This record gives sequence, structure tokens and C-alpha cells, in this order.
Amino acid sequence: MADAATMDKIVALCKRRGFVFASSEIYGGLGSTYDYGHYGVLLKSNVKNEWWRAMLQERDDIVALDSAILQHPRTWEASGHLAGFTDPMVDCRTCGQRFRADHLQDLECPRKPSRHPGEAEMCDLTEARDFNLMFETTMGPVKDSGATVYLRPETAQGIFVNFKNVLQFSRKKPPFGIAQIGKSFRNEITPGNFVFRTREFEQMEMEFFVPPGEAADWYEFWKAARLQWYVDLGLRADHLRLREHDADELSHYSSATADVEYLFPIGWSELEGIANRGDFDLTQHAAFSGEKLEYFDPQTKERYVPHVIEPAAGADRATLAFLVDAYDEEEVDGEQRTVLKLHPRLAPIKVAVLPLVRKDGQPEVAREVAAALRGRMQAEYDEGGSIGKRYRRQDEIGTPFCVTIDHQTLEDRTVTVRDRDTLAQDRVAIDELPDALAARLAEPWQSPKLARA
Ligand code: GAP
Repeated sequence: MADAATMDKIVALCKRRGFVFASSEIYGGLGSTYDYGHYGVLLKSNVKNEWWRAMLQERDDIVALDSAILQHPRTWEASGHLAGFTDPMVDCRTCGQRFRADHLQDLECPRKPSRHPGEAEMCDLTEARDFNLMFETTMGPVKDSGATVYLRPETAQGIFVNFKNVLQFSRKKPPFGIAQIGKSFRNEITPGNFVFRTREFEQMEMEFFVPPGEAADWYEFWKAARLQWYVDLGLRADHLRLREHDADELSHYSSATADVEYLFPIGWSELEGIANRGDFDLTQHAAFSGEKLEYFDPQTKERYVPHVIEPAAGADRATLAFLVDAYDEEEVDGEQRTVLKLHPRLAPIKVAVLPLVRKDGQPEVAREVAAALRGRMQAEYDEGGSIGKRYRRQDEIGTPFCVTIDHQTLEDRTVTVRDRDTLAQDRVAIDELPDALAARLAEPWQSPKLARA
């Protein structure tokens, strides 16, 4: 059966329900930048929290870091970004637009009838030139005499330049990892597909420092572990794959890289890269800074530069994949419903509390129930509109449970619990509700879309 999700439907739902909207919209928007509203913030922070959980809580060999966005400019000389973080671009002298030279076949010329850039007779493309993707700014109060600094294009370098600090204070030894989540910035020539490729985005990166002889095994380990993370959070396994890079695709620092790819409505696309970076980064930063960035093993008396295995994911791109995979449309009692079948751990709101009517003491009891649940989980109280409309709203937000307070509640202090996926309704005593919902939220879950495949 064809998947109901298209990029247009996801964008429309995100706007309609306040997950994500175009940034600076009242000024006409700013090319490919987006703002996250209430439910988008909750969803993306659940994604990030799950990543932290997998990195920090479920392991004892990884520590956290939060490095600055602005770093010493030598960082980017050492990393190779100043010289080599470029995309080839061409300009069209006729329409004034800029295109990625290696993506012309996927792009549309803005003139009608629409064709690929360079195809129409009037197109006049320049030769391809390299365009550095780093955003530049000036540090200091006087623009002309200030130092040029860069908004970081990846969070990884903040980890490498802190290797010595962390090694000293964390009491770890290879194999160990340093994990970081934070904003990165790239002046992409052709951003697009909603939050898939933007100029400002959040990365979730972990650099795992290992003895050189163990690098190949850890590379295999992290490829499997990172693929499994997405499956465990409900992405359908048949919509995920690992794709090993060919030799001509590898970055200058990498001896092996594989992408976790997801079958987005735009086709198979990268969610995350896992790279064997060897000793490139520590060696470069040691050469440029003059600091020794190595590990001395007191037991073997061996001194070495650790090799690095890097799983590098995008928080926005992962959030988009979870939205796409969850999006569904179905008919219920002759009516169409749109629903986000998100893994309950990711759902922005875990439970909505709804009085059936706005009278007879029902709102008061409903508020009391919502307050009791709030200590345990993200709960929302909603009394506006018909009960059908409120269910539909919660379905579109992806809320796993709706609790309805009705006339029977006032007699026996029980409520109805409606399950988002099965639509089954059970009666549960108010006193037992927090424990009962917490237990149901912790149950194993898999996408109901799988049953239909
Ligand atoms: N440190 C390695 C590194 O940055 P990358 O493949 O360039 O590797 C890692 O980026 C992840 O960051 C990507 O797999 C993607 O999820 C996310 N990402 C990269 N560029 C992005 C962009 N322009 N918009 C949104 N996410 C992006």
C-alpha cells in the first residue's frame, strides 16, 4: 500500500499544528530557515534526549560536552574547512540564480517552462567555482579591524580541540567517546526539502577515540548501533538502510564512511554518517596548536594518537524522518483522520485530558486529573470544540492517549482512555491512571503501519 506521507503534507501539518514554520514569516521568510513551535520543540527535544540516553545513560564510556559555536579561526585551518569545505557552484548570468554545479540535474531553473538550469536556450551559466560553505563574521567592536571568525559548520571540531581537557578531567581512557549536541551553520547553495537541508541546523555528534588497532571493529559496532537506534524508536526497518561510501565519495579525513539512509518521500537520503576518521583530526590540531594530543597508556607504556570513529547525526533531519514515518491517513467510522503514529517516547504530548462537556463539574475534575498526570508526563488539558475535533487535533499531534472525563466519571471516578493507534477505549480509575499510563507508555511499540505493509 502506498505511503500517505508526502513532503507537502508534512509541511502543511507542521504549520497547521504549530510544529515548524518558516522563520521571519511576517517579513516574507528567510531562505530555508525555520522556527520550531511548541510541539516541534517538544518532539525535537525528545529526539535529542533519546540520543543523550543512548550515548550517556545506557553506556559508561561516553561523556558530554557543550563547546562554543565560535572557535579560534586556526581550528578551521587545521580541520581543512577553510581550504576545502566547498561546493562547486555556477551562476546564471540571465536569471542571476546560483546553483550547485554537481546537482544541476536535480534542480529547477526558476524561469518557465521549468527545466534544469542550463537547459533552456536563454540560460547562460558561468564556469563552476568553489564556494566555501562557512558563514563568516567579525569578532570585536570595530568591523574593519576585527578578527574574522566563523560559525561552526560542524560540532565535531569543538570535541577535537577539547580532547586534552576531557581526557584530563573525565578519567577515561580509549576506547571512550565525547558527545555533543548543538547548532551548526552552512551556507548551503541549494538548501531545501523543508528541514532536511537548511543553513542553520542541529547536529548530534559523538567522537569515539580508540586504540588504532581497534578502529575497524568499532566502526562496524557504531554502524550497527546507530542503525538500531532508529529502529528502536519506531522507524520502519524496511525504510532504513546502511550505504557504504565508494572510495571517490570519501571525505579527505575518512578511510571509511557509511550513511544511515531513510526512504524519505524525496527518495533514499542521508540521515546520519558514520566515519572512520583515523588520527587525522588529533594530528592536525596537534600540529597547528603545538599541543600534544595523544594518549599514554601507563600499563603498556605505549604512547599513541587515538583513532576516531564518528557517528554524526542531524537532529532536524531525524525529527523529519520520525514525522514522515509516523504520518498516516485512514478512515474511521466513515470519516478521514490524519494521525502521527509516533513512538510514544517521542510523542510531544503523552496524554490529553478532555472533559466531554464544558459543564456539570467535568472541567474541574479534568483539570485535577491533568494536574496529577503532569508530575509524571507531558499532559495537555483541552476543553475547546467538540470531542471529535479534539480527538482529531490530538491525533495530528501524535498524542498516544486521550483521557475523557464524562458524566460517569462524576459517579464512579473512572475515565475513558482512548488509544491513538488502536482506537480502543478502556475505563480506568482516576487513582490508578498515572501508573497505568506510565506502564503503557513504557511498553514495547512498533509502527502500526508495519501490520499493513
Ligand atoms: N562531522 C561530520 C559531519 O558534519 P555531515 O555528514 O556533513 O558530517 C552530519 O553531517 C549530519 O548532519 C548529516 O547526516 C545530517 O543529518 C546533518 N546535516 C548536515 N548538513 C545539514 C543541513 N544543511 N541541514 C540539516 N541537517 C544537516
